Amino acid sequence: MTTTALPQITEQVETPVASAVRVGLCAYKKRLPPWLFYDSDGSRLFDEITQVSEYYLTRIEREIFTAHAADLIAQAGQAGQSDSLVRLRITELGAGSADKTRLLLKAAVERQQTVLYEPVDVSASALESARERIEREIPGVEVVPRVMDYTRGLDLEPLVEGESRMVLYIGSSIGNFEPHEAAGILEIIRAGLEPGDTLLLGVDLRKDEATLLAAYDDAEGVTARFNLNVLARLNRELAADFDLESFAHCAVWNSDKSRIEMHLESLTDQRVKLPALDLEVEFAAGERIHTENSYKYAPGQAEGMLSAAGFKPEITWTDPRGWFAVCLGRAE
Ligand SMILES: C[S@@+](CC[C@H](N)C(=O)[O-])C[C@H]1O[C@@H](n2cnc3c(N)ncnc32)[C@H](O)[C@@H]1O
Repeated sequence: MTTTALPQITEQVETPVASAVRVGLCAYKKRLPPWLFYDSDGSRLFDEITQVSEYYLTRIEREIFTAHAADLIAQAGQAGQSDSLVRLRITELGAGSADKTRLLLKAAVERQQTVLYEPVDVSASALESARERIEREIPGVEVVPRVMDYTRGLDLEPLVEGESRMVLYIGSSIGNFEPHEAAGILEIIRAGLEPGDTLLLGVDLRKDEATLLAAYDDAEGVTARFNLNVLARLNRELAADFDLESFAHCAVWNSDKSRIEMHLESLTDQRVKLPALDLEVEFAAGERIHTENSYKYAPGQAEGMLSAAGFKPEITWTDPRGWFAVCLGRAE
């Protein structure tokens, strides 16, 4: 009898970062997914963006919360058809540093003395600093962070008797997704909820092009550093040799699609090595890597998206100029 050696099969399981980079940089039109921005440097740079004067999104959403936090929490806490009050448990997707969220958590503590807050994010460093700050500054809030990619499904802790879940999906995060992906995420959220639970969706509204472009290309260059940090991250984590000086940040308004696009443009013909992926990628001068979209919605559009995903839109809060909208939908 003869024996034949079977070929050796080596298991090669790439990390999510490695496989996203391989797929994105080998595509005909090169791209990288926006969640890659948020390593610890990227999360810190995003917090810096929220402080620059041109980035109106955070400032206006915070103004809306400052003016309406108590109403917003009271409305979410009304249990469906009846007027009986329930205890809210607050879950936030893509919480980051949760800076604005503190306004809602304070209102929830005023209403019900204590609140369980479950921030979800891909950035462990952002969640850790959020937890430390919230528990120090707002007694009554218990923070239970989860490092998780919410696009892969929500595996939420079950509620206890008398509780209702309020999901926060704020900061215009939904705008990073193509319309069909955004619809899919709202469906994922709805699938994790019980009828009567609520979703608070924060969306950026369409406005003049100069204001939009300035928000994504600030004079101090903080957004440029944030965008370029994705290449620095690939240098750190995949031993790549991107020369950050030979790529430029570029923000474009795509009126047909109603979105701001961020790209990194190669300034020369060049070849970049990514040894951890056993890959070399060529760039022609002027070629771009598409790193982010930020969709800008028409008034009423977010409410339509909520309805399509199985939520009844109840109230929308906005600012006097109608630049940003915060919509509360209730799971039907
Ligand atoms: C634009 S920031 C918004 C932060 C905060 N919600 C705000 O309103 O300022 C997006 C946040 O979502 C997180 N994030 C992005 N994609 C994610 C994903 N697929 N799963 C979980 N978190 C994600 C990022 O790490 C980042 O903290």
